Amino acid sequence: MPADPSRSFKWATIICSVVSIVFLIAAAVRENISADWRARQAAFREILTRKAKDAAARTAARNLPIEIRQVVVPALHAVDRCVTCHLGIDDPRMADQANPHRTHPKRLLTIHRVEKFGCTVCHQGQGAALNFEEAKAEDYFWDYPLLPAKFTEATCASCHNPRALPAGSAGRLVLGAQLYEQKGCGGCHKLNGKGGQLGLPLDNVGLKTKHQFVRTNLKGSQTNWNWLAEHFRDPAGIIPGSLMPVPALSRPQVEALTVFMLSLRQRDLPAEYLAPDKIDEQYARLHPAPPDGAALYRRYCAACHDTGLFSRWDKLFQRFVPGIRNAAFVRAADDESLAVNVREGRPGTPMPGWGPKAGGLSEAELAALVAYMRSSAPAMALPAAPARGDAARGATLFAQNCAGCHGVAGQGLIAPALANPVFQRAATDAFIAQTIRAGRENTPMPAFGRAGFGEAEIGDLLAYIRKWQPAGAAAVALGRQP
Ligand code: HEC
Ligand code: HEC
Ligand code: HEC
Ligand code: HEC
Ligand code: HEC
Ligand code: HEC
Repeated sequence: MPADPSRSFKWATIICSVVSIVFLIAAAVRENISADWRARQAAFREILTRKAKDAAARTAARNLPIEIRQVVVPALHAVDRCVTCHLGIDDPRMADQANPHRTHPKRLLTIHRVEKFGCTVCHQGQGAALNFEEAKAEDYFWDYPLLPAKFTEATCASCHNPRALPAGSAGRLVLGAQLYEQKGCGGCHKLNGKGGQLGLPLDNVGLKTKHQFVRTNLKGSQTNWNWLAEHFRDPAGIIPGSLMPVPALSRPQVEALTVFMLSLRQRDLPAEYLAPDKIDEQYARLHPAPPDGAALYRRYCAACHDTGLFSRWDKLFQRFVPGIRNAAFVRAADDESLAVNVREGRPGTPMPGWGPKAGGLSEAELAALVAYMRSSAPAMALPAAPARGDAARGATLFAQNCAGCHGVAGQGLIAPALANPVFQRAATDAFIAQTIRAGRENTPMPAFGRAGFGEAEIGDLLAYIRKWQPAGAAAVALGRQP
């Protein structure tokens, strides 16, 4: 009789089934019987038994069930099984043990009860995981992996005003927020609707997932905190050609600023989870104190203009940033032109607008900034400008004496763009004439009056420079004589 032709297929099927079943059994054993957490719980049972003071406690310890434990917090959408391994987390007797059995540091869980808060609201990580690598979730498709202990303070800000917390409980976070002010990050980034626009708004930078950062040049750990720290050490090393200056920070300062960045996240948390100090903070934001010009200047202007007393060479912008508190400038400019420059900025240059529709500052804040600039020197009564002369002669003078710094077409080069429409609108003829005549001390702008330019040449230059004035704009828009 010929051999059954399907015989070899039957064997193959049987062998495959057996192999699959073996794998399934092995997986079941690994997941259930030899799971890491079971060994952790058995070890914890030993520790409890050793620490038991009497027979009853010893019996209770020995009978501690080995089972998955979890904290379910529907209000936070959390199912946290961390306590399956971290069994001693709220037991003060476990302070001398190693992780995962050790008591939680800083008594944080006596204030935030485990049943109400769980763990991931502060730590992030994958709550439902039953082994530590998956709980950490760094290399998994998990948006918010476990924060390293030194960065965990970042999440305090979701429910607290960190400055109102007892000293030492969120020290890095508070330092990071201070550095943000001191380093003038607001000059290029918006936060709470206010700030410059050269960089992105940072309100939710702490909610970004790692896939939202460009990581092509990131070496080492691919986590957000490593991206942020490396970007602070050298922005252009991470984003080639970045216009963000190196913030010059020590290692602890980099950590503090990274914690502050991670804390920037608008989270939807139920009101009962917000601490009273957070509610006070939200109230204070809606009822701000009267604006303080010096503080606003530090926060929004100093990153580019420094003290403003001299003109600063910026190697990333490849141009001089004007000394806007320099007496020579402030004497020649009136309050209205200062306000126009600040409100509207100089489009097409790094100088952003700061009015309500751009940088988000209120009229009261703009006025405080103008008053702060004004405090360097009172406005002087400017000598009258000469009549506008011959534009063709002016063009030649400009090409010979000015174009090297201001650009042939007034487009701005290493010195300000004179063809800029906001400059044209804010500046009066008297201001331009005075700037050419007297120059500006402590800046590269020479005093052409001392270099032999008479009023006639200045009149010719004025005629040429005013050809860039947008039609009908004139200083008339400011209700003044041009
Ligand atoms: C209120 C916020 C908060 C909650 C809730 C919280 N933690 Fe923590 N936890 C922290 C902070 C902050 C630190 C770092 C403290 C420090 O500076 O040393 C920390 C530290 C730890 C450490 C020690 C880290 C180390 O390096 O030794 C462990 C372990 C830990 N937490 C586990 C848990 C577990 C498990 C839970 C849930 C049962 C939990 N935490 C709930 C904020 C919290
Ligand atoms: C399977 C057991 C297990 C689970 C589940 C688990 N952990 Fe741990 N955890 C450990 C062990 C073990 C260590 C000690 C690791 C070490 O020292 O290398 C640890 C350490 C930590 C640390 C110290 C910091 C660190 O990176 O070493 C923190 C914080 C922590 N766990 C938080 C959590 C949180 C939050 C969860 C829940 C999302 C969780 N763990 C779930 C076993 C676990
Ligand atoms: C999910 C919200 C939430 C998070 C996250 C959180 N807390 Fe709290 N915290 C609270 C609430 C709510 C209270 C209770 C306030 C009360 O009842 O007085 C509180 C109270 C406290 C208190 C005692 C009261 C006080 O203000 O002095 C301290 C200290 C404290 N938290 C520190 C921290 C620290 C440090 C962190 C970050 C590691 C943190 N909290 C994270 C919600 C939170
Ligand atoms: C002169 C302008 C300027 C200043 C000042 C500045 N930045 Fe930036 N920043 C930028 C620009 C432009 C980018 C986009 C290019 C890049 O990522 O490097 C950027 C990017 C960033 C990013 C990445 C944002 C994202 O979502 O990709 C962070 C975070 C950041 N800056 C934080 C800061 C902090 C904190 C400070 C203060 C120490 C600061 N910046 C000061 C211009 C600036
Ligand atoms: C060596 C470079 C240099 C030369 C040459 C130069 N300037 Fe300037 N100029 C500057 C700089 C830099 C500023 C900004 C000063 C500051 O930092 O406050 C400036 C400012 C000005 C301003 C005020 C612009 C503003 O935004 O308020 C005017 C007007 C001006 N220059 C006109 C001229 C004219 C006209 C000439 C030629 C006759 C000239 N400058 C030649 C460098 C130069
Ligand atoms: C990102 C960098 C940057 C920031 C931040 C910045 N400025 Fe400027 N600002 C400049 C540059 C660059 C110019 C010169 C524009 C040009 O070259 O045409 C300028 C020009 C000005 C001028 C005109 C000066 C003149 O010579 O006529 C004023 C006034 C001024 N800024 C005020 C401010 C104030 C007030 C703030 C803060 C609220 C501020 N700037 C923030 C870069 C900046």
